[in-house]
Amino acid sequence: MKPKKKWVPLILAGAVLLSGNALSQLYSPQTAYAEVQQPAPDTPLDKNKLQQPMAVQSVRQLDNGVKLDLGAEEAYIRLLTSDMAKVSILNKGEEEFVSPGIAKTDWGTPKFKVKEDDKRIIITTDNLSIDINKSPFGIKYLDKNGNVINEDDIKGSGYEDGKPYVFKKTDKAENFYGFGEQTGGLNKRGYDIGMWNTDAYSYTKDTKYVYATIPFFIGLKGQKAYGLFFDNTYRSHFNMAKESDDYYYYYADGGKLTYYFINGPEIKDVVDRYTDLTGKINLPPEWSLGFQQSKWGYWQDDIVRVAKTFREKQIPADAMYADIDYMNDYRVFTWGPKYSDPDKLKADMDKLNFRYVTINDPGVKVDESFDTYQEGTKNNFWVKNADGSPYVGYVWPGDSVFPNFLRSDVRDWWAKKHKALFDKGVSGIWNDMNEPAVFGGPGWSMPLDTVYEADDGSKKQNKEIHNIFAHLENEATYEGFKVNKPNIRPFVLTRAAYAGTQRYAAIWTGDNTSNWDHLRMTIPMNSNLGLSGAAFVGNDIGGFAKPTAQDQPTPELFARWIEVGAFVPFSRDHYSWDKEQEPWAFGKEVEDISRKYISLRYELLPYLYNQFKRAQESGQPVQQPLVYHFQHDPNTYNNDNQYMFGDSLMIAPVVNQGATSRSVYLPAGVKWVDYWTGEEFEGGQTITKQADLGTLPIYVKQDSIIPRREVQQYTGEKKLTNLILDTYLEGQASYSFYEDDANTEDYTRGEFNVTDFRVEQKGNHIEFEQDKQTQNYDSDIQSYTLKLHDAKEPNKVQAAENKYGKASSFDELNQQASGYYFDAAAKVLYVKIPANESHKVKID
Ligand code: GLC
Repeated sequence: MKPKKKWVPLILAGAVLLSGNALSQLYSPQTAYAEVQQPAPDTPLDKNKLQQPMAVQSVRQLDNGVKLDLGAEEAYIRLLTSDMAKVSILNKGEEEFVSPGIAKTDWGTPKFKVKEDDKRIIITTDNLSIDINKSPFGIKYLDKNGNVINEDDIKGSGYEDGKPYVFKKTDKAENFYGFGEQTGGLNKRGYDIGMWNTDAYSYTKDTKYVYATIPFFIGLKGQKAYGLFFDNTYRSHFNMAKESDDYYYYYADGGKLTYYFINGPEIKDVVDRYTDLTGKINLPPEWSLGFQQSKWGYWQDDIVRVAKTFREKQIPADAMYADIDYMNDYRVFTWGPKYSDPDKLKADMDKLNFRYVTINDPGVKVDESFDTYQEGTKNNFWVKNADGSPYVGYVWPGDSVFPNFLRSDVRDWWAKKHKALFDKGVSGIWNDMNEPAVFGGPGWSMPLDTVYEADDGSKKQNKEIHNIFAHLENEATYEGFKVNKPNIRPFVLTRAAYAGTQRYAAIWTGDNTSNWDHLRMTIPMNSNLGLSGAAFVGNDIGGFAKPTAQDQPTPELFARWIEVGAFVPFSRDHYSWDKEQEPWAFGKEVEDISRKYISLRYELLPYLYNQFKRAQESGQPVQQPLVYHFQHDPNTYNNDNQYMFGDSLMIAPVVNQGATSRSVYLPAGVKWVDYWTGEEFEGGQTITKQADLGTLPIYVKQDSIIPRREVQQYTGEKKLTNLILDTYLEGQASYSFYEDDANTEDYTRGEFNVTDFRVEQKGNHIEFEQDKQTQNYDSDIQSYTLKLHDAKEPNKVQAAENKYGKASSFDELNQQASGYYFDAAAKVLYVKIPANESHKVKID
């Protein structure tokens, strides 16, 4: 029999076993727990010891830039593209730095010119000028019209006691976004930001260090954007005009001074270029865009029971998660007594058409009889103490050693080990505790002087590697799919990350808490992660932790959270053992709300999948802050409670307890349509929206086509035979629709279709046309249903000589190969068009 409270090992001072209850006491008071997890206080930059201003002594032209002799140091300024430069300031003779975050190093040589006079050196491309002042040495970036985009402050750049730093000028008109995963608001002007991957259980909106390090940000001034990526894996710091309105600065605790400068001026171009550099997401398997359910505390039977309940209650879902309890005493790559029959689990889940994902932690239990421990020990695979012995830290399995993922043979080994999970039907891998977390360790992790031996035999200290530990582990996991499941798209979920991790894994924002602050915080967190290249992001819906009795997923909080959670890129309800949080745990009303919004997500899957395709192609975030889309509207700059879900849908959720209405800002320059009422609004105004529990305010950007489909209980349940083109038309709307098999890598070999749709109001009639661009995938689509809102009853609908018949009901239309139906009450016109219609369809 299962005990009610499960036993969870944890150490704070000495190895102890505590029950779930005791653990929750340990976790509270929240502040005390949060304090032990946060790293040691920052070592501030000593402004009195900044380097004496340097001066350029000589210049040498390189094939893609210049090398400058700065006396004490030397600098390389290289052009990677006409709008992106790499700046390295190094001790003489040092090699330039490339972190594992970088995906592309092989850049062509853009056209450029170098001009030099007594005072300056100016490097010019078609899109950017880099104006270098010789004495004191300083860099100014200008656009092609000569506008200054960004400029070194008088304090310049250099090293203070081994800490690389850069000071930049700013003024009150400049705002900052990005920085990966951060607490607090959207606009980071005025923030003092730190990056050191930290297991930040139940963090708050003021917690400085959380799980991921993405030292990239976007500056926006005068409606023009630039990007800056400080590629340094040590603990890094960004004082974004907190100290002074006139400058900002960033520095790291060690390493080399390397940064990339990207000229926009559009934010979307900055993100595109940044993700050229650090990699774009891979197209995920479609099932991973479905709804997912997880709990720390599910046993094998629970997984099946809960999956079944989703089906019985007709709440769509695709995946269940097995947390650490599936393992044999938390030994990685094993199955234990709580999941005693994984083959049966696979059979049961197959029957229910559910996938399942297993957690994986990097800590390997110290146990002489455990094969993974034996193999790693024999091959010298572990992270070491300064004295050369394996470092042992305490995590879920008790004393554990940690793979040295810096070595490629360790990554290869780890990749292959996943076979034990894939053989039992596991579809996705969830990498947790990979900051890495060490209970009771300094800053809840390993000491800074632990040692990683690199492939070339050199030894690196943890203070340099810590922030890329998870990145390298995720690379290994991703490879685990490639070697064990060739041609199946990987799904990896990670807690910790570095810049570039998006090319291996989706990111979830760790152990959030069941309270309103956390619901509100999901919006700026996901938005800034999206701007930082991590398009596939999400948060534990309903909140994971319950550190105090007040942190309750009340029915109201859960309902509001599922409204938002159904409209984030990665949609998973995950929680810890001391509560109940499935969508039906809060009574019928909340269950119905959950069903409604999750079903809507499934109807929108063609749209969502296409947004992921755009992310894969151009780095475009799936969840976008309004400023991404509307950078020419300053009213969007500080908006952190609304966002775009893809290109056409604006979400303005209710995120305050007790609220049944909210004010909604409608960005300028476009018109908006209330998704629920059809009411139209001019942009550039703030309106009030009534939104009782169960109403998620959604606004459609006018002149949009949103591809949809009938609801399914899981992805792949029903073939997509009829694609709905949900069209909000005033002038002209177009959409480039991408389709492939949604699960394999065949698309990378060209097996996909692209069809361009255009719908246009021309005087009194409307025209529809399609243009099949690429046709290499065997699609099931036989027809399109063009759905026109705010429409008039047509006199006739025809394609060339072929008249489309009028149906008397929507059902009747569905029976026909082509035709139209006008719903007079809703003022909606449906036109069914065969997928092979080669003529324009005219609606008169
Ligand atoms: C960590 C994870 C959480 C997981 C738990 C147990 O706290 O962030 O999601 O459920 O460990 O594995």
